[in-house]
Amino acid sequence: MVPERHKIRSTRVRVLFNRPLPGDQYLLRLHAPSLYPLMQPGHFVHLESHASLTLPRPFSVLGVDQEEGAIDLLYKVVGQGTRLMAEWRKGDVVRLLGPVGNPFAVNDPPGRAVLVAGGIGLAPLDFLARHLATINVPTVLMVGSEGGLPFPVATSRLSWPGEVSPGMALSHLESLGIPSRLASLSEQPGVYRGFVTELLADYLRTLDPGHLSGVTLYVCGPTPMMAAVAHVAREFGVDGQASLEEHMACGFGGCAGCVAPIRIKPGDWGYRRVCVDGPVFPLLNVAWEQLS
Ligand SMILES: Cc1cc2nc3c(=O)[nH]c(=O)nc-3n(C[C@H](O)[C@H](O)[C@H](O)COP(=O)(O)OP(=O)(O)OC[C@H]3O[C@@H](n4cnc5c(N)ncnc54)[C@H](O)[C@@H]3O)c2cc1C
Ligand code: FES
Repeated sequence: MVPERHKIRSTRVRVLFNRPLPGDQYLLRLHAPSLYPLMQPGHFVHLESHASLTLPRPFSVLGVDQEEGAIDLLYKVVGQGTRLMAEWRKGDVVRLLGPVGNPFAVNDPPGRAVLVAGGIGLAPLDFLARHLATINVPTVLMVGSEGGLPFPVATSRLSWPGEVSPGMALSHLESLGIPSRLASLSEQPGVYRGFVTELLADYLRTLDPGHLSGVTLYVCGPTPMMAAVAHVAREFGVDGQASLEEHMACGFGGCAGCVAPIRIKPGDWGYRRVCVDGPVFPLLNVAWEQLS
């Protein structure tokens, strides 16, 4: 199914809350009654973090709250713009552009969705996981994180193939019946020790050919991690979709400052704008070797 592309709107929105979370991350809720119904998993918004900074900052939509007519963002403080955003308080009014980009597409038939997040790449995939649950697509999510998870975790009650004792899972997904698992390079109880791509390969290895052929991977995280997921995908003969991150200027397709190399046909690639042609691209069409 190809999602409908919406017109990008520029609007002023009010901060409902800006809550600090572990790992220098923040959950930001913005009152955006005209925008929230348009937001789909994979869309992002371009936020003006401060009048003194020329360029807005792009952030994936984490979700929407229908009761409050709001959109949620999950952001990590990494530089000047996000440091200024961390100072926002309830009632502040900020400018944003959105929804930008093409969202994740759900295959028809949907098969089995395997979501692989790295760090803050969890934001669009968390939204996607909850969306897929509402349309009954079998979904699992795995997240690799070294910097502190933004959400509570607890020992899982949902089974995970090949597991001897239950691992830790994201509690809010668990309560929706969505199995999730965590990966880290450091030793932690119930957490897979290693790269999330190794956890992915272990998971795919447990599937029989019938189930494997129905798998779609959905990926968001640091570029080297997504390139490694593409490698695993080729090894197991599965495909998927990746949400790319590129530095952006205009954010609406006018400057070509955000291009990424995308394969057009075998052996040939060209540049595509991540803001409006992406940020979601077919995983195996991205020329990862050009990006690394
Ligand atoms: C489509 C998309 C979705 C994103 N979703 C999220 C999200 O949900 N949560 C989150 O925490 N971060 C997300 N990012 C990354 C986020 O945009 C950057 O962390 C942020 O712009 C950093 O701004 P800064 O001023 O604090 O950092 P600085 O390093 O001071 O920024 C300097 C300039 O570089 C740009 N920049 C820096 N890092 C990145 C980056 N990784 N990607 C793109 N531009 C960057 C900034 O926008 C700014 O123009 C996303 C990026 C893209 C492209
Ligand atoms: S940021 Fe200008 S074209 Fe994408």
